[in-house]
Amino acid sequence: MRFTRHAVAPSVAVLSLLGLTGCSPTSGEARPSSQAADRSPTPAPEAGAPGIGDSDFPLDGNGGYDVAHYGIAIGYTPATKHLHGVTTIQAKAVQRLSSFNLDLSGLHVSGVTVDGARAAFSRSGSELTVTPAAPLASGARFTVKVAYAGEPRPIKDSGNLGTYGFIPTADGAFVAAEPNGAKTWFPSNDHPADKATFDFEITVPRGVTALANGELTGEPATTDGRTTYKWRERQPMATYLATATLGRFQLRQGETPGGVKNLAAVDPAHHAALQKLHTVSGEVTDHWSKVFGPYPFSSTGGVVDDFSAGYALETQTKPLYGGFAPDESIIAHELAHQWFGNSVTIQRWKDLWLNEGFATYAEWLWAEHRGRTTAEANFTTLLARPATDPMWSYPPGRARPDDLFNDSIYKRGAMTLHALRKTIGDRTFFTLLRQWADQHKYGHATTPQFVALAERLSGKDLSALFDTWLYQPTKPAPSS
Ligand code: ARG
Ligand code: ZN
Repeated sequence: MRFTRHAVAPSVAVLSLLGLTGCSPTSGEARPSSQAADRSPTPAPEAGAPGIGDSDFPLDGNGGYDVAHYGIAIGYTPATKHLHGVTTIQAKAVQRLSSFNLDLSGLHVSGVTVDGARAAFSRSGSELTVTPAAPLASGARFTVKVAYAGEPRPIKDSGNLGTYGFIPTADGAFVAAEPNGAKTWFPSNDHPADKATFDFEITVPRGVTALANGELTGEPATTDGRTTYKWRERQPMATYLATATLGRFQLRQGETPGGVKNLAAVDPAHHAALQKLHTVSGEVTDHWSKVFGPYPFSSTGGVVDDFSAGYALETQTKPLYGGFAPDESIIAHELAHQWFGNSVTIQRWKDLWLNEGFATYAEWLWAEHRGRTTAEANFTTLLARPATDPMWSYPPGRARPDDLFNDSIYKRGAMTLHALRKTIGDRTFFTLLRQWADQHKYGHATTPQFVALAERLSGKDLSALFDTWLYQPTKPAPSS
């Protein structure tokens, strides 16, 4: 009876593609699409799914469309913590869409248009459901504009993820959104499986600097005591890597010795870190360009803010360091992510070791490069941890949503790469890293694809090695 508008009810398979199974009135009110159903007696079978299909994060991202570009225009006033914004999203429908969702948490939405026409919208949790005046045809390119305002609230997840998203600070904001905090400051398809290019237009009181991804597209312009900064990220980017970090900053600009634009910025409290951040970021960017292949983006650098996040984030082109002067090791880590994580992006969070295991292994490679510790020594030290160490019961090949950034994802992930290197030899191993970065440049990849490439390049059956290191909840034998 829910399909009375249709001559023939869609099959269960079609319903599940559309994200509508389990959507009957008795199936629980948690799903936003059933809330929409409360309003219209006939739920539209062409509604885009409220999640992109990552079963560990069922409501992250959305189904039914693919974003090509975000244009984020925001104004922010640190003194009042007030943000207002208009985000313009260019997307393509991948199914017929009577409605679709965006992810947005908090903030007040004042209006939505689709292709310039007023659209109806409703909110439920972090789901913003948009119903255009007429359904969008499958394959149609469309433009959504969302006007919104309010005080952004970061996400606080004690233990697992800490505080992330748009985090107000005394002089601005620290914006680091992994894994799903983009929705705290702009409406988006907030999941790494949908990457897009970005334009930022950020207006702040004069004296405040706005730092976003990519490069400035012109000189900042000041009128009536407010300055507008326009930044553009030309290469596809996952939403969690977008930043608009605001505050008082000291800047150092230039190029790496190899000729990549390089911008370092530090909060005045960390002025002593500026020179080293600039120099080491340049050296690391150039070194990884030799080891992993050409730098995938148009600029590099880093930002040290005075917010004590307790972590750094590999924000595209400008890693963010939350409240500390970074050492070489962490700079090497965050810049390795520009290849592994940012250019080659995971489809599902369970593959997070493809980001963190690689970036941790890059720390070991950097220490080796500088003649400090060998990767083998790091590997051996970790392998000496007793069988009771929590790392051995957490297989890194399947990151858990309630413990994403576990040590195992980082360290046992890196050990997996070292075990692989010893099995296939340096020559094949480094070819593999370069081919991996090249084949999936600006795209997505999964663990089975990595295993397949390793097997193809080495000519070896590596299933036992990867099974032992990535999937078994036990300590691997010293020989594996
Ligand atoms: N990807 C970051 C890094 O390894 C870690 C981010 C941690 N994020 C968080 N919400 N705790 O460099
Ligand atoms: Zn990392």
